[in-house]
Amino acid sequence: MNGREPFPELELRPVRAADCEAVVAMFQSLSPRSLYLRFLTLMPDPTSLVVRHLALVDEHDHGALVVLDGDEVVAISQWDRTGHDGPAEIATTVADAWQHHGLGRALARAVAGDAHRHGVEELTARVLSENRAAQGLAVGQRPVATEFDGTETSFTFELAS
Ligand SMILES: CC(C)(COP(=O)(O)OP(=O)(O)OC[C@H]1O[C@@H](n2cnc3c(N)ncnc32)[C@H](O)[C@@H]1OP(=O)(O)O)[C@@H](O)C(=O)NCCC(=O)NCCS
Repeated sequence: MNGREPFPELELRPVRAADCEAVVAMFQSLSPRSLYLRFLTLMPDPTSLVVRHLALVDEHDHGALVVLDGDEVVAISQWDRTGHDGPAEIATTVADAWQHHGLGRALARAVAGDAHRHGVEELTARVLSENRAAQGLAVGQRPVATEFDGTETSFTFELAS
């Protein structure tokens, strides 16, 4: 991304307020299955949730990176502190046509670095236990703790200083 492998043609950068429409368009383009896996529940229309989240981005407690193919947002990953100066929860979404080609993995690495640069020392992720791609992604990032409660699995990652 940004001229480098594995996706030299794609642009990776922090989200901007002006990206709102393109981010919403990506979420609206997702299959019901992708939406379900992302939000851990049936989510017929994610628009208001997505808009509300983008409004929170302040580069202190909430941050997000987007991946663009030209003007089109093809992936987004966000980190959100659950308490002031505490750990942050990450969530990643890759547009259907781009899934399973390594973009999620590259983006997850980048967003962990971004969170760390903003002072986050611990990341958490909650995924459905049936979500094999997200499980594979999380395990590849070497979690320090994994909790399984049946339908969901929670991962904790420490960001080295
Ligand atoms: C989960 C998601 C972000 C992963 O991104 P991706 O670009 O599709 O994943 P990648 O191609 O980078 O693969 C990541 C890892 O998962 C594995 N994986 C990918 N698709 C898989 C599948 N269908 N079944 C099993 N493993 C899979 C890959 O082998 C890879 O493992 P590796 O790092 O050991 O090679 C993406 O599929 C997505 O947006 N899904 C819908 C929303 C969602 O589930 N978000 C996560 C919950 S917040």
